[in-house]
Amino acid sequence: MSKRSWAEPYKIKMIEPLRMTSPDERDAAMSAAGFNTFLLRSDEVYIDLLTDSGTTAMSDRQWAGVMLGDEAYAGSANYYHLEDAVHRYYGYKHLIPTHQGRGAEHLLSRLLIKPGDVVPGNMYFTTTRAHQELAGGRFVDIIGDAAHDVNSKEPFKGNVDLSKLQAAIDTHGAGRIPYVCLQCCVNMAGGQPVSMANIAAVSALCKEHGISVMLDATRAVENAYFIKAREPGYGPRSIEEILREICSYTDGCTNSAKKDCLVNIGGFLCVNDDALAEEARNMVVLFEGLHTYGGLAGRDMEAMAIGIAESVQYDHIRARVGQVEYLGTLLENAGVPIILPVGGHGIFIDAIRFLPHIPREQFPAQALAAALFVESGVRSMERGAVSAGRDPDTRANIFPKLELVRLTIPRRVYTQAHMDVTAESVIELFNQPERVVGLEITHEPRYLRFFQARFRPVTGERVLKPAREALSCASSN
Ligand code: F0G
Repeated sequence: MSKRSWAEPYKIKMIEPLRMTSPDERDAAMSAAGFNTFLLRSDEVYIDLLTDSGTTAMSDRQWAGVMLGDEAYAGSANYYHLEDAVHRYYGYKHLIPTHQGRGAEHLLSRLLIKPGDVVPGNMYFTTTRAHQELAGGRFVDIIGDAAHDVNSKEPFKGNVDLSKLQAAIDTHGAGRIPYVCLQCCVNMAGGQPVSMANIAAVSALCKEHGISVMLDATRAVENAYFIKAREPGYGPRSIEEILREICSYTDGCTNSAKKDCLVNIGGFLCVNDDALAEEARNMVVLFEGLHTYGGLAGRDMEAMAIGIAESVQYDHIRARVGQVEYLGTLLENAGVPIILPVGGHGIFIDAIRFLPHIPREQFPAQALAAALFVESGVRSMERGAVSAGRDPDTRANIFPKLELVRLTIPRRVYTQAHMDVTAESVIELFNQPERVVGLEITHEPRYLRFFQARFRPVTGERVLKPAREALSCASSN
């Protein structure tokens, strides 16, 4: 049979022009930004793959929903639409909206974690762990070893290692574990999914010990797609059914709606327990706003309700994950070291293999992200030692096994041609890695340092040496 391609299941109604800049302009911009892609101005960026968070293109229906915003302080009609959507697609009993995911993490951590508690999770996420630590808790990693192994091609690298969970329970005691945090499509592992069998097994083990399971549902729809595509028995099931089944094994969730739910701002906390919901509704008033808006405008909640329904449509999610896979295939075919299998929301480049001449102490992933911007105007994000931060006790730098650069694909924003240009830019650098110079930190904020830290090249002023200079260095070595 001849090849039949899929194409984006939408057409473009409104465009936003992109600005192309010269290498000299980008070099100056990167230096002014302290070699941190978070500190660039977005009008300096050509293709913005910093994050898939809040960067979604909303549909015409969502924009129409914005016009139906009921901006009442209390009891907005849009809150009830959102509640209906969350009940239908996620299935939890109580909904507490928040301004974004970390608002929900803050509430959950404050409500359930006592000083000295431990919170096992399948790999840390930056904001999630920060809120657990602020509440006096400690994160314990229970993800399977495959997630830390760039060479492993297992289909569900996000899975919890049940023996690590059991060991955490044995060591700390169930009484010291307020809940297990189970993340879908594990972000820091490369967007790697968790299998339904593993979710069910985690739930069963926790139930045995009276421990709750709280889902980080931020990328649960992408995870549902991988379960449908890869897990035996789930092929004929709809994304909607699979999503509800995932949630059914858990006691509640935090969710950054800025990802799978297809909106630019928003999040929510869900719980099934009535008493906990009561406390959460009380606490949200202190930090976010009344329990029927949680820091959001009515129009934001309407867009989210519509976005949730769109997110589970098969054509949407197949094209979303398919676009990420398309970029991954281009890079893989060129020999660029990336995390395989490709995850749901982005391509994660292994900076250690990409830049073997830069030692870990000189933050190769940070340097690669900075250099890629100077080379091409493509903005990516470091996901390595800078993101991992410092040990809370010793304050020593944590050097996680994974030192990655994330090319994160916004939903419904870029075309296949943008993916081609991105791949060509990465491959260009890959063919001359010695042009990239390591970095040292010049300013380090106390919390979540990766957002605002500043750096300088360990030698010279540029993070990316001009092509000719690098060539002459290489030949004189
Ligand atoms: N959980 C996960 C798995 C996330 O990826 C994020 C955000 C959050 C929670 C926090 O949600 O940003 O709405 O407060 N991830 C973004 C990213 C920032 O770029 O990966 P938020």
